[in-house]
Amino acid sequence: TLPESMLPEPELRPALADVQAVYSRAALPDPYPLYERARSHGQVVPVPEWNAVAIFGHEEASQVLRSPAALSGQQIGQAVEVGQVSEAMQLLAPMMLFHNGPSHARLRGLVSAAFTPRVVAEQEELVRGLVREMLRAEEGRPFDLVDKLAVPLPVAVITGMLGLSKDDEQQFRAWTQSVAELLGGIDQSPELMARIEGDAREMRAYFRDLAGDLRAHPQPGLLSALAAAEDEEGRLSSAELLANAVLLLAAGHETTSNLIGRGVLALQEQPGAWAELAALPDIGNTLADELLRFTSPVQLTGRALGAPLEIGGQMYPAGTHTMLLLAAANRDERTFTDANRLNLTRANAGRHLAFASGPHYCLGASLARLETRVVFGELARYPKLRVLEQTPQYRPNIVLRGLSKLMVEL
Ligand code: HEM
Repeated sequence: TLPESMLPEPELRPALADVQAVYSRAALPDPYPLYERARSHGQVVPVPEWNAVAIFGHEEASQVLRSPAALSGQQIGQAVEVGQVSEAMQLLAPMMLFHNGPSHARLRGLVSAAFTPRVVAEQEELVRGLVREMLRAEEGRPFDLVDKLAVPLPVAVITGMLGLSKDDEQQFRAWTQSVAELLGGIDQSPELMARIEGDAREMRAYFRDLAGDLRAHPQPGLLSALAAAEDEEGRLSSAELLANAVLLLAAGHETTSNLIGRGVLALQEQPGAWAELAALPDIGNTLADELLRFTSPVQLTGRALGAPLEIGGQMYPAGTHTMLLLAAANRDERTFTDANRLNLTRANAGRHLAFASGPHYCLGASLARLETRVVFGELARYPKLRVLEQTPQYRPNIVLRGLSKLMVEL
């Protein structure tokens, strides 16, 4: 618990209610007004009732993410130690995302040795070919952009990179949906939990068999490279291989899909923005970064303090949970002028925290930027594109925020 001196005065209770709202179903259709209401209590809002502090400011969130005192995955680690986790959590616990220090560096090093800039750069022509093919198939009729482009594209790209079979893409879509629901879904029904557990068992069997095959008969692709790292050097255990393969599959899919869907909607909702996109001489990283800043496909994350840390001028003891509202930090007026407006040529768009910061900075950032540049470059060739949906539908997930459907016409 926080020191007595930090307990909020009774009149500060509205702060608790406002922070709570950000983490509730109320945040689904449009969390931004809720972030602003909570931010009105400060860029850093202590929540002693939860032994936590909610962080809305860009500078403060960035400082915590980069601090060695901030630890990721503490709750999962402790739960695994005392054997209090579901099968699905057990499966995901060896993900690099939930590790810190040398253990994290080792896992990240092994995966990034295979996920090189050259391997990423080589995807560009393939991505372009896929996007053109997907869009051409839909010309002249209304279609669901989420189902026909935003979801299948990242799945096809990461499936190809991992060296997985194209025939299993539908299966991967379902499995990674389960991972996303486990990590940020708000539906906790027993039926859903049972489905997630079933999917975890299937994923384990699928990747275990595949890793065995790939060790015996290496194929091109990241998974073979990871299976070889495990085999030859004994450095990546089976459980680690499995968890990190699932991480690449899921991280490279839900997030990018949500960026494409929400990015199109945002450009359509702001008057004149689509025409501006179509007229841009060069669709580069600035546009990709501004869409990332504006849509924040990963809306929030968290870290536990492993040592005392000063945040926003106040000391917080070890054990405090920091709630990091990346999406709110990306709309912090102190860092981004006119933050609630898309500015396709924003000079400092790259300072966003959509990929987090520090040791867990998104490993797939260059791939995500590449996919975004290509997708929006190709979409810009349709200056008349219009959204047909009156009320876009959102997935029931407050962490990985995205549309479940977006009807458009090219
Ligand atoms: C980590 C965002 C695409 C792989 C992260 C984190 C964020 C993020 C915020 C850090 C989470 C935390 O620290 O709590 C995004 C966004 C993407 C995207 C917004 C697309 C728009 C990708 C892609 C891949 C990928 C395409 C790979 C194929 C990873 C991995 C990590 C990670 C492996 C864990 C890194 C670590 O723990 O060291 N991503 N990501 N991501 N991302 Fe991404």
